[in-house]
Amino acid sequence: MNFKEELQGRTQRIEKILADFLPAEEGWQKTVIEAMNYSVTAGGKRLRPMLMAESAALFDDTDKIPALPCFMAALEMIHNYSLVHDDLPAMDNDEYRRGRKTTHVVYGEGMAVLAGDGLLNYAFETAAAAFDYAETAEDYRRMASALRILGRKAGIYGMIGGQCADLEAEEADRDMTDGQLLFIHAHKTAALIQAAMMIGAALAGASREEIERLEKCAYNIGLAFQIQDDVLDVAGSPEILGKPVGSDEKNHKLTYVALHGLEDSKKEVRRLSEEAVGILASFSHRSPFLEELVRQLIYREK
Ligand code: IPE
Ligand code: IPE
Ligand code: MG
Ligand code: MG
Ligand code: MG
Repeated sequence: MNFKEELQGRTQRIEKILADFLPAEEGWQKTVIEAMNYSVTAGGKRLRPMLMAESAALFDDTDKIPALPCFMAALEMIHNYSLVHDDLPAMDNDEYRRGRKTTHVVYGEGMAVLAGDGLLNYAFETAAAAFDYAETAEDYRRMASALRILGRKAGIYGMIGGQCADLEAEEADRDMTDGQLLFIHAHKTAALIQAAMMIGAALAGASREEIERLEKCAYNIGLAFQIQDDVLDVAGSPEILGKPVGSDEKNHKLTYVALHGLEDSKKEVRRLSEEAVGILASFSHRSPFLEELVRQLIYREK
């Protein structure tokens, strides 16, 4: 397997899916739609839709799951909405994302708030369009279960819950606990990665036990992903990252690096990722690409 080529091919397929689902920039609401598309078309690794498709492929031929692209696009829209709001002056106050000015810098704060709201709602409209492909009661059941996972993992018991704790930890005194940090990472970051893998599995007809095993796997991947994000915020290059470094220190963020230092953070990224690969290896259908993707994330520079 040529991992780089495989990765490129998959990323291109996702870009095409996203382009197909983005709203047309027209009407009196044209500006907010432009701001939404500005955020989504800026690139990014497209990790969440990729993990969704790869998780589905553990259980079925993805060409036979027409609902999958709807949910892949929906999750990437939610991820992008979370970034647009995360960068706002009221949150992390950052001016660069994926090598471009952030949405609020280009369109203004009010429009960026609306673009985030617009992406969130359009995500659910897009996911619900999957029902057009449902033929059997089982199809409806799988799609309903996928929608429910999406709502929960993006909401107060998922990403929004984590962003809430992340914001409050800025104000708190500095003797934070590992428990608090774990809550933040598990929710603000791991939850959307869990949504990706669980939805892929649910749409492909995985059993409840298999979905739970992937939920744990995605928890590890998500924690490792955020710790590495925090490492790169200290030791990365803004040119490669496409976003500023030092944002966490500026905002007095509670991060794994702040609590444990760079070396232990890197070790923890590796430990969590190897454990995740171990879980992937426990499924009867093995995916060399998915296992390698999780390993590559240990060394990512962006
Ligand atoms: C950034 O996510 C926000 C975090 C959860 C750390 P990504 O690193 O996946 O961002 P893009 O989509 O590739 O730009
Ligand atoms: C953000 O974490 C997670 C989100 C839910 C957006 P960060 O605030 O560390 O993400 P970056 O570094 O801005 O991408
Ligand atoms: Mg943040
Ligand atoms: Mg941020
Ligand atoms: Mg960060």
